[in-house]
Amino acid sequence: RIAGPSGLVIFGVTGDLSRKKLMPAVYDLANRGLLPPGFSLIGFARREWQDEDFAKEVHDAVKEHARTPFREEVWQQLVQGMRFVQGVFDDDDAFENLKATIAELDKAQGTGGNFAFYLSVPPKFFPQVVQQLKKHGLADQKEGSWRRAVIEKPFGHDLDSAIELNKVVHEVFPSNEVFRIDHYLGKETVQNILALRFANTLFEPIWNRSYVDHVQITMAEDIGIGGRAGYYDGIGAARDVIQNHLLQLLALTAMEEPASFDADALAAEKTKVLGAVKLPRDLGAHTVRGQYAEGWQGGEQAVGYLQEEGIDPRSKTDTYAAVKLEIDNRRWAGVPFYLRTGKRLGRRVTEIAVVFQRAPHSPFDHTATEELGQNALVIRVQPDEGVTMRFGSKVPGTSMEVRDVSMDFAYGESFTESSPEAYERLILDVLLGDSNLFPRVEEVELSWKILDPIEHYWDKHGKPAQYESGTWGPVEADEMLARDGRSWRRP
Ligand code: BG6
Repeated sequence: RIAGPSGLVIFGVTGDLSRKKLMPAVYDLANRGLLPPGFSLIGFARREWQDEDFAKEVHDAVKEHARTPFREEVWQQLVQGMRFVQGVFDDDDAFENLKATIAELDKAQGTGGNFAFYLSVPPKFFPQVVQQLKKHGLADQKEGSWRRAVIEKPFGHDLDSAIELNKVVHEVFPSNEVFRIDHYLGKETVQNILALRFANTLFEPIWNRSYVDHVQITMAEDIGIGGRAGYYDGIGAARDVIQNHLLQLLALTAMEEPASFDADALAAEKTKVLGAVKLPRDLGAHTVRGQYAEGWQGGEQAVGYLQEEGIDPRSKTDTYAAVKLEIDNRRWAGVPFYLRTGKRLGRRVTEIAVVFQRAPHSPFDHTATEELGQNALVIRVQPDEGVTMRFGSKVPGTSMEVRDVSMDFAYGESFTESSPEAYERLILDVLLGDSNLFPRVEEVELSWKILDPIEHYWDKHGKPAQYESGTWGPVEADEMLARDGRSWRRP
């Protein structure tokens, strides 16, 4: 799978995402030989840069963040196709410049008119940018070539704004040329959920309400909001990652087997299961939001959210969110899916734990099995990628004592192949026109439909609970599970 003649235009090229993820991903793809020789990269931003300044930025970003080693010959080839277009989004001249630059690259680099426009800008600019692309003929799908739009999250702020955005984007680009990025879908371990479930016989027979007690999906981060106050405040944890990453993980964990692994078949199943998600009636009892207070993290003192630079000291933004969801279908009726995420938690870990019911009867002495947990299958998404199965085993010795043990699969031990970074994989898919790993418009809208009532409830009721940085979130979240007779796993 090597991309054909093509180029990428990045709007918002001076931003964090571009420097940390997009530029290094382009280099890594080139280094792995997955880009065509004349591949071109155009940066578009307000900054007064020349092509050389842009190339230097890319160079520095690559040196700092690329996964693969730096090779001068790869760099020299890549830099041939690098251009910078200076301008703001309402500047017609800048878009005419962009058009001329693309035409020039088509000639000089043989890009064949195939360009993807990556909108790494705040969503409020999406409409303006796509309309400018249309106005200047940059989105025209010409015979034998393609133009694509790549859209970063957050895709809207709620259901209404997402519908509005989708309308604007689809007026300009046909739906099969729109790629919405959810970088979790580009992660190796996330793609493995489908392999684990559907390439084996072992798991699927028990993957249902008859055997599963509940599912916990955790995305914990140890970092705070860093320099992202402007983006994060007013958005919060639920909109930032539950609406997209965690609901996608839920969809992959809970969906039915697709007829094939192609984009339509996958989207059909994900859409069905997201459409079946049901919110608990009492949102006060089954959702929790929190905000980090100061505390100790990794041996260092961390400031509270309200003391972070650029944050309104009265902010009610959630940096922690936990919700209980149910799925109204035959497979999952009555099985809670608990989702939680937070910044400044104990450590960075994302996992999906499928927790099974207890054995209906135990022939062993009660006291000897007391400590036994429930069987669980844990998909370790990151950072320690793999899968763990927990089950009870006899403790060696003369008595019949049973204790929890685990069986582990670790990527590093089983495979010598290294996996591409999520953005690498996704950018390559955009250039190839392969949309398997991109959420469709229906999925995005259904996810907002799930989240909207929770956000409305939170807006009306109180404030986020405070939790000390470096801990596992507010006590209210523990109470939420305790009310159901369960507890959160400590990954
Ligand atoms: C992004 C969120 O989508 O994912 C960030 O906006 C978060 O707030 C990030 O830090 C986490 O990504 P990863 O790949 O490090 O888990």
